[in-house]
Order: sequence, then structure tokens, then C-alpha cells
Amino acid sequence: MKVISSINGMMKFSKSAKRQGRSIGFVPTMGALHKGHFSLIRKARIENDLVIVSIFVNPAQFGPKEDFSKYPRVFKLDLGVCKQAGVDVVFYPRVKEMYPSSYQTFVTVGELSDTLCGKSRPGHFTGVATVVTKLFNIVGPDTAYFGQKDAQQSVIIRRLSRDLNFPVRIRVVPTVREIDGLAMSSRNSYLNQRQRDEATVLNHSLELAKDLIRAGEKNPKEIIRCMKRLIGNIKSAKIDYIDIVGLEDLETVKKVSKGCLIALAVWIGKTRLIDNIIIDGA
Ligand code: PAJ
Repeated sequence: MKVISSINGMMKFSKSAKRQGRSIGFVPTMGALHKGHFSLIRKARIENDLVIVSIFVNPAQFGPKEDFSKYPRVFKLDLGVCKQAGVDVVFYPRVKEMYPSSYQTFVTVGELSDTLCGKSRPGHFTGVATVVTKLFNIVGPDTAYFGQKDAQQSVIIRRLSRDLNFPVRIRVVPTVREIDGLAMSSRNSYLNQRQRDEATVLNHSLELAKDLIRAGEKNPKEIIRCMKRLIGNIKSAKIDYIDIVGLEDLETVKKVSKGCLIALAVWIGKTRLIDNIIIDGA
């Protein structure tokens, strides 16, 4: 396994791989790798000749009051995970090379960025779209892998890729969960034991929504009201949003139907967690 830090070095490697006709699967990450990331990498491993993982805590996607400086950075452990998963190249660029002081170009995906998480994290998805655009240009993947865990991000990247004609196939991989249902996230490490237990309420509220829908409930407002009541039982939990939206346009639906996305963000103490499910029958 190679570690490449320079943009030029990464571009050269990819160019030469392409000349040899080798397909490239790409998994962009911010590190602190867990089983969620691992499942993306495994999928990429199965489907491509070469697997490239980027590890880059992207300052452009963090708000001024967000956790950029305390975001977990465990590069050595991450290298172990990558090796075990059969990664060929870890791309590990420096902030100064990705965003030199003269940097001034940003990519914004329209309305999709302003809803759900975009409302409480203004500018976040511009940061994501910008770094993913840069990474696609540098790595030149045939296929890139994203997690359903960050549903809105995946929808935005698909839109970006189509709108800007990137010759990249976008694959979205199911959410990997802990045994008790909590969606795996690098941010789970911020939780103390009590908060960690309480954090399962996100998944429980989604399970409750599923049960209600199975029992015939189609009114999004009623479903959201029940989810809010359940989450309200947890003292340390503060709801940022709960919404039921169409999977393509992320617009609030009037009636729940198959393929809808139920998405939520909840603060557990000072940690903001997100989760979602796609309704598979209604
Ligand atoms: P990061 O949070 O490190 O996540 C990298 C990828 O792993 C994303 O596509 C995310 O959706 C996926 N992922 C995270 N937790 C998952 C889980 N429990 N199950 C399945 N997939 C999971 O998302 C980012 O980084 C950044 O925004 C990035 C795209 C790298 C741009 O900076």
C-alpha cells in the first residue's frame, strides 16, 4: 500500500493506472475510519482493479463554531484499516496544498444544499462539493463510493457529478450500524457512556416511524410528532430537524410513500448526530 501526499504525485499515479487500463474505485473520507468506511472500501475492492482512499479533514466544510480542530485524527490507525481492507493508495493531502492562501474557487449545488442539514450548517455542502470536485479531478476515479448514512451528501454528490459531467459512477452503500442500532460515525467518539446509550434514540425513532408506516400511517406530520415525542423522553437530546422528503429532490412530502427518506439530526449534549432510513414499502 502506497501513501501519496502530493497532488501531483496522486495525479501521476492515476494517469499511469488509466494508461494501463486499470479501473479506479475511490472512497473519499475524513479519516477516523470505522466499519462504515470499511464497508465502502470493501465494495470498492470487489468492483475495481485499484482502490484509492483519501483521508482529508476538509476545513471548507466546517462552520466557524464547528469541530474542525477537535475532529479525530488517527492517521496511523487509519493506515492499518486501509491495509486490512486491501487499499492500494491512501491519498493524504495537506490543507496548504489543497487550499493555498490564494485559493478562491467554490462549488455550490443549489437548493439541495439549503434543506435538511444545510439549514443549520450553512456553507457545509459547498465545502463538501468543492473538496469532492477537487478530489475527483485529482484522483480521476471510475467509481466513487459514498454512504447512505450521509443521505443528503450522497444526493448532492450525484447531482454535482451529473451537472458537471464528471465521468464518475456514484455508488451509495447502506448504513453500517452498531449492534444496538446506532449508526457508526467518527463523531460517536465524542459521546460519554450515558450519551452513547441515549444516542440510540435516533435509530429507535426511525424504527418507530417504520412501524407506524407498516401499520398504515401515511401522514408525515403524525409520524414526525410521534418521533419527536419519543426523542423528547431523552433529556440530553435536542432535535435539530426531522423531515420526510423525496429521495431525489429532498423536498418535504405531503404523504408517505415507498422510496421516501426520513432524515433527522439530533444533538446529544454537544454532539450533533444524523441518521436516516429509506421507506421500502408504504
Ligand atoms: P466521512 O464522514 O469520513 O465519511 C466518508 C464516507 O463514509 C461518506 O461517504 C459517509 O457517508 C460514509 N459513512 C460514514 N459513516 C457510515 C456508516 N455508518 N455506514 C456507511 N457509510 C458511512 O463524509 C465525509 O467524510 C466527507 O464529507 C467527505 C465526503 C470525505 C468530503 O470531505
